[in-house]
Amino acid sequence: MVARFITLEGIDGAGKSSHLKFIGSWLESHGIDAVFTREPGGTGLGEKLRELLLSPSTRVSLESETLLMFASRQEHIVQVIAPALSCGRWVVSDRFTDASFAYQGGGRGLAFERIRVLEDWVQQGLQPDLTFLFDVPPELAQSRMAASRQLDRFEREQADFHRRVREAYLERARENPRFCVLDSSRSLEAIRVDIADRLSRLQEAG
Ligand code: TYD
Repeated sequence: MVARFITLEGIDGAGKSSHLKFIGSWLESHGIDAVFTREPGGTGLGEKLRELLLSPSTRVSLESETLLMFASRQEHIVQVIAPALSCGRWVVSDRFTDASFAYQGGGRGLAFERIRVLEDWVQQGLQPDLTFLFDVPPELAQSRMAASRQLDRFEREQADFHRRVREAYLERARENPRFCVLDSSRSLEAIRVDIADRLSRLQEAG
């Protein structure tokens, strides 16, 4: 079976984390060996960059923020993603380049063309096979987050920011057939049924 690259996306508070665990147990119960990783992060350098990028005390320009996301991604691809795929292991990443288009592009207003240049440079044609987009209205996401934790630098942004991020994700989903958009305002159980169905199809395809 060909190794597959799966990514999870969505605005903050969309509920990715609980579904990540479900995807893990689904793959395991189907005998699929997978690596679980995240962005920014996934490597020693990447995790240090993550800490800087998420810290509410960091002051950084939009350009540097974007370049640091891609520096993290470059290491992530070279050290983790490409080696795993080449030895037949599936890779599941909690966020990837669609997050740069959605947050730095949609949310902060960086020209998509700039991001595309970095994408081509760093990815050299590598793209996810399947992207789950957990889609919820920002108001619902906000209420889920506020209850549970300390907010990071992105989560502290205003509702308008999250609305733009959501729109940019949905726009990418319309342009790329690899997306599976999941209405995350539904029950966990209903969403799991859709995830399992999509994973089965991916497994059967190859
Ligand atoms: P997130 O994945 O939501 O982690 P947690 O669930 O622990 O909060 O946090 C990562 C944040 O980084 C998220 O707010 C989106 C942001 N981000 C970008 O702005 N651009 C990117 O390219 C990536 C990968 C993430």
